Amino acid sequence: MRVTVKIIAIIMLTMPLCFCSCKNESLPKTTLKSVSDFPVGTAININILKKDSTLKELQIQNFNSITATFQMKMDQVAKTDTGYNWETVDDILKYAETHNQRLFGHALVWHSSTPQWVLDKGNKDSLWLDGFMKTYISAYVSRYKGKISGWDVVNEAFESKGSAYRKTLWYNKLGKAYIEKAFLYAHQADPDAVLFYNDFNIERDTLKLNAVLKMVDEFKAKDIPISGIGFQMHIRMDVPDEIIASSLRKAAATGLQIHISELDIIFNKHDDTKNGGKETYTVLTEDMKKMQYEKYKKIALMYREIVPKEQQYGITVWDFTDRDTWVRDFFNIRDWPSLFDDDLKPKPAYFGFKEGLEAAIN
Ligand code: XIL
Repeated sequence: MRVTVKIIAIIMLTMPLCFCSCKNESLPKTTLKSVSDFPVGTAININILKKDSTLKELQIQNFNSITATFQMKMDQVAKTDTGYNWETVDDILKYAETHNQRLFGHALVWHSSTPQWVLDKGNKDSLWLDGFMKTYISAYVSRYKGKISGWDVVNEAFESKGSAYRKTLWYNKLGKAYIEKAFLYAHQADPDAVLFYNDFNIERDTLKLNAVLKMVDEFKAKDIPISGIGFQMHIRMDVPDEIIASSLRKAAATGLQIHISELDIIFNKHDDTKNGGKETYTVLTEDMKKMQYEKYKKIALMYREIVPKEQQYGITVWDFTDRDTWVRDFFNIRDWPSLFDDDLKPKPAYFGFKEGLEAAIN
C-alpha cells in the first residue's frame, strides 16, 4: 500500500517537470545564446513576457540581452512634468538580473517618443529644452550606472531617406549640436557606458549611412564620446546581401562597436510611416520560409565575418515571435518577420539564424 502511494507521489511530482521540458520539444538542445560568441538579444514587452510562461521560457533559453520595445522611452519614463517614473524600468532590470541578461537602454532621445508636454514646452523655450535634456539624461543614466551598460543615446536623427538631419523638435530648437550634447551628458553620467547612435535603413541607403559616418568622424575629431553604431536592420527579403555587407564593412572601419539592434525580416513593403504597409503577400508559403531561413543565416554570418570580434556588441531581434511583432500593428500589414511563429514554434528562420551564429568561419 505504502509503495503504491510513493509511486503515485513520484509520478505526480515528475509530471509537471515533464510537461515543462516537453513544451518546446521542437527546440534543439542548443539554443541561440548557447552557440553565439556575442550577446544575442531580443526586444521585449515586460508585461507580456511576465504573463506568458511559454514566451518567457523561450526568451530565457535563447537570449542573453534585452531591449525594451517601448517601456524605457522618454514618453514612458517622463510621461508628465511631475517627475520620472522608474517603476517599469526597475522591473525590466530585475528581470534582466534574475535571468542573467544584459539590459540595453533604448532610447534616450528619439523624436517619436518625445512626450507631448516636452514638445509643447520645448517649442516655446530652447534653453529649457536643453536643460531638460541634460537633467533627463543625467538622472536616467546615473540611476542605472553600471547596470545598463549600453545605450542608444540618440535614435533616428536623420531623415528616413538620404543625408539630411531629421527636422525634429530637438534639431529645430537646438540645431544638430543636440546630438553631441546628448552623448556628452550620457558620458558624464556614466563614463563606462557604451554609447550608440542608432538608425534604420543605413544598411541599404548609402547616402544616409555616409551622413552617419560623417557625423561619427566629426564626433571623433571633437572628442565626443560615441562608442557604437546601431544598425536597426528592419529589412525586407529583397535587400541585397552585398549592400548590407558593404555597409557593415564601412561602419566597422570606424573601429566603433557595431550593434545589429532591431533585426527583423519582412516580405511586404512599407513606406517607413505608421500604417504605411503595402500587403502583397497574404500567406507565408514554404518557399518564403526557406528564403527567410537563408536571409537570417546570411545576416548572422555577415556580421561575424565582417565585424571584428572586439567590435561585436551583439545582434538583437525586435520581438521574437510573429504573434507579437510590432510590424503588424505599426505598418498595418500581415507579415511574418520573426524567428518564432504565431504559435511560438521556431520557424526555419530560427534554425537559419542559429546556423549562421554557430557555423565555422575563417
Ligand atoms: C517600436 C515598438 O516596437 C512599438 O511597440 C512602438 O509602438 C513603436 O516603436 N525603430 C525603433 C524602435 O527604434 O523603438 C521602434 O519600436 C521600431 C522602429
